[in-house]
Amino acid sequence: MRELTFTTVVSEYDNSDELPETDKKLLNAAIGARANAYAPYSHFYVGAAVLLDDGTVVLGNNQENVAYPSGLCAERTALFAAGANYPGKKVIKIAISANSLDFEVSSPVYPCGACRQVMSEYEQLSGNQMEILMMGNSGKVHVVNGLINILPVAFNADNLKRKSIGHL
Ligand code: THU
Repeated sequence: MRELTFTTVVSEYDNSDELPETDKKLLNAAIGARANAYAPYSHFYVGAAVLLDDGTVVLGNNQENVAYPSGLCAERTALFAAGANYPGKKVIKIAISANSLDFEVSSPVYPCGACRQVMSEYEQLSGNQMEILMMGNSGKVHVVNGLINILPVAFNADNLKRKSIGHL
C-alpha cells in the first residue's frame, strides 16, 4: 500500500481590486450576470462569465424551476451557452460571483461537483488549463489556475484501455 497525495493551490486576494484589470473586468461581468439569475426558490443568485480565446465573454446565471432538479447552475448555463454559440473556441477563464437574500455570502463560492465535471470536459476540449475566479457578494476572491486544483483525480476516459472485444 502507498498513499498518493494531491496538492492543490489557490491564490487568495483580499478583494477584487487586487486582481489584474482584465480579471477584474471578467469578475464584474459575472457580478452583472447575477442580476438576471432566476432564483425564486433558493434566493441564491449566481453569475458566471466565460472568457474565450478570441476575447468573447459569454454570460450565464442560475435558472431554477419549480421541478427543482430541472434548474441549472450559472456555470453550466454559461459554459453550455459558450459551447452552443462558439463551438471550437477555447475556454480560457471563468469568473463566478454569488449573492443571497438570506445569507451573507462574504467568502468565495466554489462551483458544485456537476459544474466541475462540465468544466473538466471544456478544459480537455480547449487543451489548456482553465483559470477559475470565485467570489461571493464581496470580499475575498479565490483564483485557481487549472481545474485540477478543485477537481483532482477527475474521471478521465482517455486512460481506459479498450478491450479487444467490445460490448457488441
Ligand atoms: N448554484 C449555482 O448556480 N452555482 C454554484 O456554484 C452553486 C449553486 C445555484 C443552483 C441553485 O439555483 C442555487 O444556486 C442554490 O443552490
